[in-house]
Amino acid sequence: MELSKYLKGKKIIFGITGGIAAYKAANIVSALRRAKADVHVVMTKNALEFITPITMKTLSENNVILDMFDDHGYVTHISLTEIADLFIVAPATANCIAKLRAGIADDMLSTMLLAYNKDILLVPSMNDNMLNNPATQENIEVLSKRNINFVMPDYGKLATGKVGKGRFPEIEKIILKIIELIYVKPLINSISNNCFDKLKNFISSKNFCVTCGATREYIDPVRYISNGSSGKMGFAFINAINSMGGKLKVIAANYTDSRIDWFNPIRVGTTIEMKNALMENLKDIDCIIMSAAPSDYRIKDEFTSKIKKGEDYINLKLVKNPDIISEVRKDYKELKILGFAAETDNIEQNGFEKLKKKNMDAICINKVYKDQIGFNQDENEIIFIDKNNSTFKIEKMDKEIAAYQVLYYLFKDSL
Ligand SMILES: Cc1cc2nc3c(=O)[nH]c(=O)nc-3n(C[C@H](O)[C@H](O)[C@H](O)COP(=O)(O)O)c2cc1C
Repeated sequence: MELSKYLKGKKIIFGITGGIAAYKAANIVSALRRAKADVHVVMTKNALEFITPITMKTLSENNVILDMFDDHGYVTHISLTEIADLFIVAPATANCIAKLRAGIADDMLSTMLLAYNKDILLVPSMNDNMLNNPATQENIEVLSKRNINFVMPDYGKLATGKVGKGRFPEIEKIILKIIELIYVKPLINSISNNCFDKLKNFISSKNFCVTCGATREYIDPVRYISNGSSGKMGFAFINAINSMGGKLKVIAANYTDSRIDWFNPIRVGTTIEMKNALMENLKDIDCIIMSAAPSDYRIKDEFTSKIKKGEDYINLKLVKNPDIISEVRKDYKELKILGFAAETDNIEQNGFEKLKKKNMDAICINKVYKDQIGFNQDENEIIFIDKNNSTFKIEKMDKEIAAYQVLYYLFKDSL
């Protein structure tokens, strides 16, 4: 993903507070700067114990704002807050979150946060007991209700070596959230008047299942039939749904997009395994996104030992796999199903027939050719058709952005 497409020239205020993950802010500021964003770092007094302002000044190529009263009458906290496109605090300490909830403005960062009336993004990171403390939990809940955005901490090894929730999240997760707020939100709002928040509220009340990756049908213990699906489109949906607060189950066959690992997928191998995993996991699901590429055929009689090189020709008999979507539809009549059709010819016609035949709610059709178009690419060009035959063309763009648009078209009539 070429970040500068989305972030070039954007003014970002970047707050750093006194947490052990403060050094990780350097990588984010550096990535934003490489994407040609104009980054203004504000540090609390306690943040200075963890990372030096000279580092942040060098990386951001702007003076670091430290003190309320060091700019000789120039009212930084107001002037910058009026022109910035986004205000991030990463890491955000428990203390900083509590102060924002209470409206305390006793240093430059907290004062600027109160003066800022556009999107704020907080990235909490702390010891798990601090995070689980009812005070912190309630502060996060109250701020979320006030439309403050969060990328919540990951589960993993904490600074003390203990394993728990509180770890500073993957930097790419934060960057994707920044792009959502700076680029995707205005994009969705431009399709339909102020619909982004409605879409977010809707998604946050639903349970989703996303399938992704390519199934493998083994010929012998070492060879298989598969396809080039990387899981990137699946990840794009997972990220968008997770970021908008939807509850998620991920069922993944083989994938090369390692970002899927962030979401603890249920792993499957073959098409039949994928079907079985789905049937067991769909009970509370409202919407399923079938972005996996399952194999339509499997080997009739799998060889139990590795096939030795010998004969000039060998015959492989293939048998049809169950059609996952049709099977799911039989048992789950009310489930919203978004399918995919990766086609090489007559793409619109073939996709449309698939939508009707399998009784889906909508389908995303895209062209594939080896690993040059569609599969394993960062970008995708999608034709979205719903069961009422409404068609929307999504121009070629990064999959992470296209996923939000597809979700909008999928749910627009419910918003
Ligand atoms: C070594 C050390 C590491 C700390 N790490 C964190 C942390 O990761 N998250 C957090 O919320 N507080 C952490 N604290 C506590 C904060 O520094 C403390 O609450 C401070 O008042 C925060 O100030 P600020 O929010 O103005 O930056 C840590 C303290 C120490 C001494």
